[in-house]
Amino acid sequence: MNRVDSPIGVFDSGVGGISTLKVLAKMLPHEDFVFFGDSGNAPYGEKRREEVQRLTNNAVQKLLTHHIKGMVIACNTATSASKPMLLEHYPDLTIVGIEPALKEAVDNGAQNILVMATPLTLAMPKFQRQLRLFSGERHIETLPCSGLAGLIECGAQRLDDVKDLLRRLLSTTSDTQFDAIVLGCTHYPFVKDLIAECIPSHPRFFTGYEGLTRHLTHLLDDKNLLRTGNEHRSIEFLSSSVNPHETDLYRELFTSSIESATQFGR
Ligand code: DGL
Repeated sequence: MNRVDSPIGVFDSGVGGISTLKVLAKMLPHEDFVFFGDSGNAPYGEKRREEVQRLTNNAVQKLLTHHIKGMVIACNTATSASKPMLLEHYPDLTIVGIEPALKEAVDNGAQNILVMATPLTLAMPKFQRQLRLFSGERHIETLPCSGLAGLIECGAQRLDDVKDLLRRLLSTTSDTQFDAIVLGCTHYPFVKDLIAECIPSHPRFFTGYEGLTRHLTHLLDDKNLLRTGNEHRSIEFLSSSVNPHETDLYRELFTSSIESATQFGR
């Protein structure tokens, strides 16, 4: 296969990466994609960094067997823990990774920002540096959401638990009127409406997906690896879950207009 025609690999610890894939597929309509959700090992956000690095490396190895021309780490936790290591191990592969979109919120003029992400993402030096850089002139609060991605992974059957956990987590924030919420975990867009219900102000939500896609487009274009046409575009779904129907759920989440965990079940 001509390298230009190779697919782009997209990886997350589970269903979260589908929220990223939706934007990638929309903005890059001629590209093929192979999505791998490591649902068998999710969630990542409360694991040790070394363990996340090991799992991420396994995911890249798996996607490389599909001859990918580029790789999107659609997982803030995996990016924070593993991106420098991946860049070193795979110097010839185009790799981009999603990170909490704090800069995007700041660039859009937000003054009171809440960053929701996994404990590991928030603890990583990269995010801590960003936090130091952008604090000062504005109010930025971080909220480590232990357990949230794991519950979202379980779908609608844990919906009440998701609601309870969100209420508990968000009750620990200050009474600031947030004008921006950074969804720093790709699982969280699926519960965006539930988050909004717990926040008295009407904040804008930031995920960073468009910026990530533009960055990928630019890198592939530089290497002449962008497709200009593709009549039969394919999007393949793979999972490490023992549940044989897991990829059906990925496909369903991808093809429907579902934006909320309230609407999907298993
Ligand atoms: N969706 C991932 C993220 O963006 C990981 C969540 C998890 O597995 O804990 O951080």
